[in-house]
Amino acid sequence: MELDPRTLSVAERYKLLIGVIVPRPIALVSTISPDGRPNLAPFSFFNGVGSNPMTVLFCPANNADGSEKDTLRNAKPVSEGGTGEFVVNVASEAYERRMAACAEPLGYGESEFALSGLSPLPSARVRPPRVLESPVSLECRTLQVIRTNPGQPSGGNIVIGEVVHVHAEEGVMNERLHTDPAKLAAIGRMGGSGYVRTAGAAQRFEMPMGREALKG
Ligand SMILES: Cc1cc2nc3c(=O)[nH]c(=O)nc-3n(C[C@H](O)[C@H](O)[C@H](O)COP(=O)(O)O)c2cc1C
Repeated sequence: MELDPRTLSVAERYKLLIGVIVPRPIALVSTISPDGRPNLAPFSFFNGVGSNPMTVLFCPANNADGSEKDTLRNAKPVSEGGTGEFVVNVASEAYERRMAACAEPLGYGESEFALSGLSPLPSARVRPPRVLESPVSLECRTLQVIRTNPGQPSGGNIVIGEVVHVHAEEGVMNERLHTDPAKLAAIGRMGGSGYVRTAGAAQRFEMPMGREALKG
């Protein structure tokens, strides 16, 4: 099959993207509005950017009417009307359904903490709260927002943030900073409404990289 994205509808392009870019890690992103109201929403267009400085990104697409999702309104830099801060809470099995509940489109300023029953805890370095139930939380200051189609329906936005503080639940990482995947129990998103688990040893395997990889 050969496909030219220009011949596909926006919905078809989305279906294709989420079907082939798998599995995707999930950031449950907490933010607050400039007047202090908390917000929580999951994003699977999420990844690391680099380690110097320690940076991550996530991509809140525009709403169907072209407006910005609440998370982007809150996380964008102060110079653009936001707070310039967000927290990435790693989505895990322990609270998977409450994480998904946070995708409910609530009015601006209405809290998904209240809807989902997840518990806000004060962060160490930023104003948005972290999520108690999450095994790891990355407190971030927004460096930049890149907009691929501002004001347009489903236009993409990349929020890049510097991690200024890391909270890890006791036992998830050892003193050498190796994370135990069984304790992290991260979940990932597949196409449609599919998800994957990563805690079970049977699902994971190891191999070296480069030429060494061919020796197996
Ligand atoms: C697991 C999961 C992953 C999601 N990933 C994204 C994403 O990467 N980008 C996006 O724009 N919306 C994504 N969504 C949908 C948003 O979470 C949803 O639109 C949410 O209501 C946005 O909330 P906000 O307006 O409070 O920011 C995802 C939903 C789920 C359940």
